[in-house]
Amino acid sequence: MALPPGIEPKHLPQHVALVMDGNGRWAQRRGLKRTDGHAAGEEALFDTVEGALTLGVPWMTVYAFSTENWRRPIDEVRYLMNFNERILLGRRDELHAKGVRVRFIGRRGGRVPGRVRRHIEDTEAMTAKNRRLTLTFAFNYGGRAELVDGIQRLAADARDRKIDPAKVDEKMIRRYLYAPDMPDPDLLVRTSGEFRISNYLLWEIAYSELYFTETLWPDFRREHLYEAVREFQARERRFGAI
Ligand code: IPE
Ligand code: IPE
Ligand code: MG
Repeated sequence: MALPPGIEPKHLPQHVALVMDGNGRWAQRRGLKRTDGHAAGEEALFDTVEGALTLGVPWMTVYAFSTENWRRPIDEVRYLMNFNERILLGRRDELHAKGVRVRFIGRRGGRVPGRVRRHIEDTEAMTAKNRRLTLTFAFNYGGRAELVDGIQRLAADARDRKIDPAKVDEKMIRRYLYAPDMPDPDLLVRTSGEFRISNYLLWEIAYSELYFTETLWPDFRREHLYEAVREFQARERRFGAI
């Protein structure tokens, strides 16, 4: 299948990370409830997944719920938990049929309901062998929490003499992240005109290209992804060299 115009097959990002932001404002501007904005975000997500499949981008990671989002009103938190579970159950067969491997990064314990956790595990197991696209949900995820969790395990392994503290290097730290096999994002997209990272993939985005758009997440479609990729392809990545 032909790529969208202006996109080079040679320099596609291998991993696109998205901060799906602006659902609440989208709803408020329409006189709707904030949660209606989250609901409208579902179509944006699955259209964007189609876009990634069309481009042949093999990794896409989406920020669905942050460790800080527990600070929201209990009704919205509850809505988001149920909503993510509903998306998972409602869409997993379709994703599986398309060759999408669904994975989750984030803290699975704590306040995440056991039922949601079980559905996460089932979906991961069901789609584990798919390789066309790995769609990772950052759910109850925080970049600092990821480092804390990894360092706790690393420190325990050092105590148990499974690793030598003198041998800790970047490669070893990567092995203690939630998804050690996940390549770093080449491109990070944030919607809704906010210019911040909000504790997303802190270790992994060290050299990602950042792309910000005013588009609110519920209005985001595959064409917006294509536009971000065009901009990405126009950039020169140097990785500290000249
Ligand atoms: C992003 O939209 C979705 C989540 C954080 C779960 P918001 O809910 O943050 O929407 P705004 O930023 O308030 O408009
Ligand atoms: C980041 O958006 C988290 C998700 C999109 C899930 P937020 O809306 O929570 O971020 P802040 O509060 O504006 O930094
Ligand atoms: Mg927001």
